Amino acid sequence: MITLGIECTAHTLSVGISKNERILSNAIDTYSGGKEGLIPRKLADHHANIFAKILQQSLEDAKTSMEKVDLIAFSQGPGIGAPLSLGISGAKFLASYYGKEIIGVNHPYAHAEIGKHCAKMKDPLVVYLSGGNSQLLVQEGEFYHVLGETLDIGIGNLFDSFARSIKLEKANGAELSKLAEGGKYTELPYTVKGMNLVFSGLQTAAEKAAQKHNKKDAAYSLMETAFAMTCEITERALFLTQKKEILVCGGVAQNRRLQEMLKAMCEEDNVRFGVAPDEYNRDNGAMIAYAGWLLYRKYGPMKIENCIPVTSYRIDRMKEIFG
Ligand code: FE2
Repeated sequence: MITLGIECTAHTLSVGISKNERILSNAIDTYSGGKEGLIPRKLADHHANIFAKILQQSLEDAKTSMEKVDLIAFSQGPGIGAPLSLGISGAKFLASYYGKEIIGVNHPYAHAEIGKHCAKMKDPLVVYLSGGNSQLLVQEGEFYHVLGETLDIGIGNLFDSFARSIKLEKANGAELSKLAEGGKYTELPYTVKGMNLVFSGLQTAAEKAAQKHNKKDAAYSLMETAFAMTCEITERALFLTQKKEILVCGGVAQNRRLQEMLKAMCEEDNVRFGVAPDEYNRDNGAMIAYAGWLLYRKYGPMKIENCIPVTSYRIDRMKEIFG
């Protein structure tokens, strides 16, 4: 079965194609907002301008055509309203015009499932870390429970906001990581509540530290503190659940320092550590195609009238939609 997956929740428009569990293509284009950050209308404009090009590229890379596609999968949320609506309209148009079946996919579910697939894991404790989300997930049947999460902002947004406050040319986590290299640690607020995280105090203190000390030390200390907090709640959840595998996924999972810290923890606790290649941790259409195929096999297609954006679509609400 050939599935075409469309990712459109935020700054990335991507079209990926899978044949059953095999990924055939993954065309990706990410809008860089620069210093002004992500303005919803500009994201939607970007996605509209490149939709046809990315679709064409993905079909060519997969050596297939729209006629051969069986299922259109789209990212249904959580996400930013304007780009999400644009992507879903594109998915609905393709499904209607070419007479294909359609299914909506929860974005974090897709990150977790493609991660499991790449790392060859069956039942891991999932550490999902992205711009808007930071969650510890465990699966029961097809659906996930949230064991712990950020109580304010996502870890990726923490990095982006801090990068903007110190006026980095490109305000994102990857650029912040480069700046942090070789920095010295200064103490910052560390707030963990059980298996939950709180980042806002850390952000404010890091911004003050950047003025008092220097940007490099503040960036290094911010990232080290946020990652240490993440490791602490992950280890607590590991002891509670007695899982034998830990999978980290989502955009922030690409960070090598975070991977190193989680890996060291896994070695100490004698559990397997897994992470997908970067291409599948950044936002991408291949994960939507793969996850759409998984859901379609169990639950069949969605009615076109139910294909609407769900901007605050939590992973633990999937049961309401599919159950
Ligand atoms: Fe994502």
